[in-house]
Amino acid sequence: MSTGIRVASLDDLSVEEGLQISSDVTGTEDDIALLRDTDGTVYALNDTCTHAIASLSDGYVEDGYVECPVHASRFCLKNGKVSGLPATVDTVAHKVEVRDGEIYLFPNESPEA
Ligand code: FES
Repeated sequence: MSTGIRVASLDDLSVEEGLQISSDVTGTEDDIALLRDTDGTVYALNDTCTHAIASLSDGYVEDGYVECPVHASRFCLKNGKVSGLPATVDTVAHKVEVRDGEIYLFPNESPEA
């Protein structure tokens, strides 16, 4: 059973902020956006918006969603489902865990499994 990849400290990621983690570190197809919700929970989505080249780690995080900083489509932090045009394609959500103040990513593992 995988224990995940340590990608950041919780202290590196403020509430309602994002942090881009390079695919060189995660081994994923896309860079990963770590996103910390209003309640402090950490989520991970593919970083590149499914509409065009925009980094979701630069987006606006609030109440379960990240809003793309370019055209304002919103993606669910839990499962990557898109709501709001112009993006029409869901993004990929990855499982994360916080242990002892460190954030661990489980690349390509569904957070809902
Ligand atoms: S680049 Fe994200 S909605 Fe257009």
